[in-house]
Amino acid sequence: MERAIFDFFTTLVEKFSGISYGEGKEYLVESRLSELALSLGYKDIKELYNRIKQGFDHKLLNEIIDALTTNETYFFRDFYPFEALRNYILPELFKKREKEKKISIWSAACSTGQEPYSIALILLEHFSIYLKKFKVFIYATDISKKSIEKAKKGVYNQIEINRGLPVNFLIKYFKQEGPYWKIDEKVKNIVNFEVLNLLETRQKIKEKFDIIFCRYVLIYFSNQVKQKVFKDLWNCLKPGGYLILGATEIAPLTFPDMERKVIGKTSCYYKKD
Ligand SMILES: C[S@@+](CC[C@H](N)C(=O)[O-])C[C@H]1O[C@@H](n2cnc3c(N)ncnc32)[C@H](O)[C@@H]1O
Repeated sequence: MERAIFDFFTTLVEKFSGISYGEGKEYLVESRLSELALSLGYKDIKELYNRIKQGFDHKLLNEIIDALTTNETYFFRDFYPFEALRNYILPELFKKREKEKKISIWSAACSTGQEPYSIALILLEHFSIYLKKFKVFIYATDISKKSIEKAKKGVYNQIEINRGLPVNFLIKYFKQEGPYWKIDEKVKNIVNFEVLNLLETRQKIKEKFDIIFCRYVLIYFSNQVKQKVFKDLWNCLKPGGYLILGATEIAPLTFPDMERKVIGKTSCYYKKD
């Protein structure tokens, strides 16, 4: 792929989504854009590029973003944050929020839904008494329209199911439909999916959350974008709430009201009360 074309697409995607494609990513970008160009009926990337240079709409921009985002995810990814949620974070929050009777959780950059559904499964399996008394709300967002559409369907193939989902959850909360598995309506009902660009958190998110999962997305951003998004997320967290990053990620900023807590075999960021 010509340098000018690589630069054009990567600049466009970084401006819109924050995803930064540095040196060494040429092959990845080329193979994903080639696939997109062919699927849209263009001969090659150059033809797609020439078409876009004449102007493009939101639909095409979404297709490019979908093609250039990495949507890797699986049920109960990293396991330990979910163990901490079950054994420590949720029991503490259900006690702390006894008056409000409301707990809100945000899975920011949820890809195809496995992360918020894992949280919902923990709630249904271990906190069903509280679900009767509390309003529990999981908000799950991603920039990728295609991923959100798949997440809303809640239908997964055998490979996706085999990646991390314990068999007892499969038996209890999924129904087989041919080669696919469909998640139960009662799991779906706890999760609200929406397309959201994390660069627009400040303008679009007015709610405050008790728990925010933001895992394996900041790694795609430049330092400056990472810090901006992290600060916006921190502002969306209620005092007494928890922000959880990926196992290999660390907070790009610290704040006076921030405390890093180690819970079991995971760590997270607690907003002091
Ligand atoms: C590697 S996946 C991580 C999914 C999930 N959090 C997990 O850990 O399993 C990263 C996700 O971030 C999303 N993403 C990238 N840039 C984004 C942005 N600016 N706003 C919202 N989501 C974004 C991608 O579409 C992708 O689904």
